[in-house]
Amino acid sequence: AKSLKVAVLGCGAVGSQVVRLLTEQADDLTARVGARVELVGVAVRRLDAPREVEVPEGLLTTDATGLVSRDDVDLVVEVIGGIEPARSLILAALENGASVVTANKALLAEDGPTLFEAAAKAERDLYYEAAVAGAIPILRPLRESLAGDKVTRVLGIVNGTTNFILDKMDTSGAGFSEALEEAQQLGYAEADPTADVEGFDAAAKAAILASLAFHSRVTASDVYREGISEVTAADVASARDMGAVVKLLAICELRGDQVAARVHPAMIPRSHPLASVREAYNAVFVESEAAGQLMFYGPGAGGAPTASAVLGDLVTVARNRLAGTRGAGESAYADRAVQPMGET
Ligand code: HSE
Repeated sequence: AKSLKVAVLGCGAVGSQVVRLLTEQADDLTARVGARVELVGVAVRRLDAPREVEVPEGLLTTDATGLVSRDDVDLVVEVIGGIEPARSLILAALENGASVVTANKALLAEDGPTLFEAAAKAERDLYYEAAVAGAIPILRPLRESLAGDKVTRVLGIVNGTTNFILDKMDTSGAGFSEALEEAQQLGYAEADPTADVEGFDAAAKAAILASLAFHSRVTASDVYREGISEVTAADVASARDMGAVVKLLAICELRGDQVAARVHPAMIPRSHPLASVREAYNAVFVESEAAGQLMFYGPGAGGAPTASAVLGDLVTVARNRLAGTRGAGESAYADRAVQPMGET
């Protein structure tokens, strides 16, 4: 029987869970895809680093470039994060004929169009559901389920670390650093928590959401950004007195013919569905012309939830590959104008 060979780039919090699911659920995946999905290599920076899962012997390599250039690799999963070497490796994988699944929000938000063009040229899939809001299916609903509707606004709590911190401050009166430390211990925070706390991570996700929701090309530099490091215990307490809660919101809007996106702390009434999003959970609230209001809710960070979205993409691209097709690409975007940063 035919088998599809998978290479995983990166074996951190997400990568190790991807490897675990690929190994533990091998039989189910085979049944769902219709071919054996075989892990053939895991690229890491250091062979002797401590890992959450045991990687089958002989699969680890420090030569990521060599792994993506192998002729027999069909599917490449990029979970290294950051711009380089992730970008070069994804481009090399596509050029070499592999389909790619990535969770790399920073790269997609900075240089998505380069990747989409490379995928279109190579006639290969590039899927990235895990890049926004972890396990929550939100990108495919925007790209596919709502493709016939007109989305007018997207409000998101898309960073688990900052939601955890603000929630802790709200419920226990904890200080900012104490709450941050706890979030880091739980494995939600980025390697450098500045990306979470100062809103860069949420801004990258806002750019991806706005691009898909409004059929445009929004990059991270188009997104106005303010983090939560200036939010004090007093701010949180006075919001509470007013029957509100402070949340870091990603707000993407259609204004006439233009798209605008911003990330900043906002007070929302406790009666709003987004106010009930606690701890490191994420939610994306979508308003559209025909459907009205929709909310997508679930675990938005952490290794296993993010790996769930990666595996879902992997099954889809594997099926597409067997059928000799590819999914809806981004090349069909209308180039809707994007409002310059900060213009309100
Ligand atoms: N650091 C991110 C968060 C991880 O806290 O949401 C998921 O992208």
